[in-house]
Amino acid sequence: MMTKKENYILVINAGGQYCHLIARRIRECQVEARIASPGDAVSQMENASGIIFSGGPRSVYAADAPEFPDSLFESGVPLLGICYGHQLLASKLGGRVQPGQTPEYGEAILNISGQDTILGGVPNHTKVWMSHGDEVVSVPPGFQVLARSRDCEVAAMANTQRKIFGVQFHPEVNDTAHGQQILENFVFKVCNASRNWKIDSLVPQLHEEIRKKVGDKNVLFFVSGGVDSTVAFALTTAALGPDRVLGVFVDTGFMRKNEGDEIKDIFKQRGWNNFRIEHAEKTFFDVVEGITDPEEKRRRIGKAFISIQQKVDREIGLTNGKWMLGQGTIYPDTVESGQHNAAVIKTHHNRVPEIEKLIQEGMVLEPLSDFYKDEVRAIGRKLGLPEVLVAKNPFPGPGLAVRCLCSDSELPVAVCSDCSSVGELRGTTVWRIPLRTVGVQGDHRSYSNLVLLQGAADLETFAQVSLRITREVRGTNRVAFLVTDLSKEELTQAHIRPATITPARISILREADAICRKLVSKHGLDEKIWQFPVILLPLSIKGGETIALRPVCSSDAMTARHANLPMEFVREVANEIETISGIDCVIYDVTDKPPATIEWE
Ligand code: XMP
Repeated sequence: MMTKKENYILVINAGGQYCHLIARRIRECQVEARIASPGDAVSQMENASGIIFSGGPRSVYAADAPEFPDSLFESGVPLLGICYGHQLLASKLGGRVQPGQTPEYGEAILNISGQDTILGGVPNHTKVWMSHGDEVVSVPPGFQVLARSRDCEVAAMANTQRKIFGVQFHPEVNDTAHGQQILENFVFKVCNASRNWKIDSLVPQLHEEIRKKVGDKNVLFFVSGGVDSTVAFALTTAALGPDRVLGVFVDTGFMRKNEGDEIKDIFKQRGWNNFRIEHAEKTFFDVVEGITDPEEKRRRIGKAFISIQQKVDREIGLTNGKWMLGQGTIYPDTVESGQHNAAVIKTHHNRVPEIEKLIQEGMVLEPLSDFYKDEVRAIGRKLGLPEVLVAKNPFPGPGLAVRCLCSDSELPVAVCSDCSSVGELRGTTVWRIPLRTVGVQGDHRSYSNLVLLQGAADLETFAQVSLRITREVRGTNRVAFLVTDLSKEELTQAHIRPATITPARISILREADAICRKLVSKHGLDEKIWQFPVILLPLSIKGGETIALRPVCSSDAMTARHANLPMEFVREVANEIETISGIDCVIYDVTDKPPATIEWE
C-alpha cells in the first residue's frame, strides 16, 4: 500500500556549509523543509514529497564519509543530489566518481545540452557557483548528462523516469543565477509539492517541538533585549505557559544606553511577569579585567553568564534536574562557531565549553537554531511582538565589550610603504595601524592589522582601494578612512596605547554609540543598515582615543557589505562624536565581510 505523502521536502545533511540554506530556499517556495542526518533520514523519508542530499566536505570514497542507508535510494521518492549529494547518487547507483583534474571553486558557466524538468526555464549558458574537488566521470545506467561546465563533464544528470537528479553546482547560493528556479522545478514539477507552508504553520510546529524537547522541565532564558533571545523567550512562553519559563535580563554593564529600560518597558507592555533583572556589572567587569585577546574575552563573558545562571538557580530553586537553559541562538551563530564542519571564525559567547557540555547533556533549548535572522523576525511578528523590537539591528551578546578594543603594548603607527594599491589616489597616505582585528579570509579566521587611509576621496573609491589593499598587503584584513580633519604631522604622533576594558572606556563608547543611533534614526537610515557597530580603539593622537564607525548591509551576517552612507551624514556623526571628552578622532570602516568580519573582534 502506498503511504500518503505529506507536503515536505527532506534535506539530508551530508555535512556541508549550505544544508540549512537549502532548507531555507525550500521554505521560500512556501513548502516545509525538514533536515535530517543520514542516519535519521530513513524514519522520515517515506512521507516526504522529495529528498535532497546536501553538499559535504568529504569524498564519497573517504573512510570517514557519512553512511547513507541503501533504502534511501530505493524508496521511489524523488531525489535531488547537490554537489556531494550529486556524487553520492552517482556512486550509489552505479556511476563513477573520481578526483577532478581541475577543482572548481567559485563562478563557472553551465552549458546545458539536455533539457529536462529540473533545468526547465534556465538559459543554455548560465552562471553557477561550484565548490568541488571530486567529480562524476560516468553517470549511472539509465541516467543522461544534462549539462557541463568547462572543467566538469557531468555538471547535471537525470534519470527522469525514476525522478532522480544530480547537480554538481550549488543552486541554493545567490551566485547561481537561476538556482531558485532549479529548486522550484524539483519541488513543484518533480515532487508535485504544493505551496502551503507559511510562517503561520511554523509557530504551532515550533511549540510542539519545544514541548517535546522540554518534557516536564522548566526553561531559563537570558534575554538581552535583542530580537533573537526575545523571540525565543516569547515562543517558549507561549508553548509552555509563563509559569514554566523565566527570563533573566542580565545587566552586564556592556549594554547600550537606556537598553535595560527599553526592554523592561516591552516586557511590561506584553504583560510578562516571568521576567527579572539581574545586576551583574561588577562580575562582568571583573572577568575581563586585564584581558586583551578577543577570544579569551568571549570565553570569560560566556562563563560569567553561566555563573549568573548558577546564582539564579540557587536563588529560585530551578535546579534538581528540573530546568533547561534556553538560548536564542540562530543558525549563522552556530556555523561561525565552527560547527557543521565549518572553521571557527569566532566562538560566540553561547558556544563556550560549559554550554557545549550542557548541549551534550540535552539541557539546552534553542528553538531558533535552524533559522536565519529574517525568518526569526517573521516569527516574532507572527507572535505579535512590536515592530521596534523585531526590526532592531542585531547586537552581540557580549555587548560593547567586543567593541572596546584592547592592547597590551604601546606601538607607533607607520606609513605603509609596501602599498602600491592606492597609486591612483593622489594625496592619500596609507597608514598601517598596529592593532589587530578579526577577519574571515579563505573561510578561515584571520587576526591582522588595520590600514587607515588619509586623504580626500568618496566613500566608494575608498572601498574599492580597500578591496585591493587587503588582497595585496600581507597581514591586513580591514581598511578604514580618516573622517576627522587631521594633518599628516598629527598622525605621525599617533600610537596604539595599552588599554583594557574599564567602566570609563565603556561609558565613552556608550555615548558615541548613542549619538550614532540617534542620528541614524533622525535621518531615517535604519532600514538601509543591517547593523552599525561603533568601536572604541586605543589609537591615540592627542592623548585621547579613536572611534570607528562600521555600518554594514547584509541579509544574514554570513557576508556583509560596508554601508555606503552619505558623506554629509558621516561628517555629522563624526562632528558630534568628536565633542565627547577623550575622543581624538573618528574613522569609517569600508571593508566587506569577507575579508573583515562585521564586529572588529
Ligand atoms: P561577525 O563579526 O562574525 O558577526 O561578522 C556576525 C554576527 O554575529 C554577531 N556576533 C555575536 N553575537 N555573540 C552573539 O550573540 C557573540 O559572541 C557574537 N559575535 C558576533 C555580530 O554582531 C553579527 O551580527
